[in-house]
Amino acid sequence: MRFFIDTANIEEIKEANDLGVICGVTTNPSLIAKEGRDFIEVVKEITEIVDGPISAEVISLNHEGMVAEAAKLAQIHKNIVIKLPMTAEGLKATKILSAKGVKTNVTLIFSSGQALLAARAGATYVSPFVGRLDDIGQNGLELIEEISDIFNVNGIETQIIVASVRNPIHVAQAARIGADIATVPLKVINQMIKHPLTDKGIENFIKDWEGASLKL
Ligand code: E4P
Repeated sequence: MRFFIDTANIEEIKEANDLGVICGVTTNPSLIAKEGRDFIEVVKEITEIVDGPISAEVISLNHEGMVAEAAKLAQIHKNIVIKLPMTAEGLKATKILSAKGVKTNVTLIFSSGQALLAARAGATYVSPFVGRLDDIGQNGLELIEEISDIFNVNGIETQIIVASVRNPIHVAQAARIGADIATVPLKVINQMIKHPLTDKGIENFIKDWEGASLKL
């Protein structure tokens, strides 16, 4: 499983990129709005930091508008992936864009039926939201397992991006199930790095080293 970072914040993207663990970025209209800056400008800056798929989401609700926005976004950089909502209009736009060779990420997936339809419309990626399902008392990771099984059985090449990730358990379980990618907030990456026994181990190594007055 590979990692994308789920943010539109340039500092966070730089920090995660410097760790050497991410190979893509996902944004959404809420994340972009949080930055309070020009959408195109933010996306352009992201493409200058990370050399991998950068998802930028359309706002239109009809497929003609989505395709027109996609044309504008795709011009920013060759790595742009057009993120589209899982609606009938989103599927139509996905079909049109995939026929043109434009990479797509169908988002707001909450059932395996939605994932299957998006894949058949030609989506490069589907983004099932685990955290938001957990929030309403449904098991988000079970959905990942179901989609992964369906795609394997049917030989579907659409990649699964586990989205709405809230904690390191989501990440580890999704990797175990066989998800292709997890898009993760910086906070969760940092939680994954830390372990109290690692910190304690370093503290002890340094104490022993200094106690022996050794030099490197
Ligand atoms: C994914 O592409 C979405 O941007 C994101 O993961 C949504 O996460 P949230 O449910 O924490 O807002």
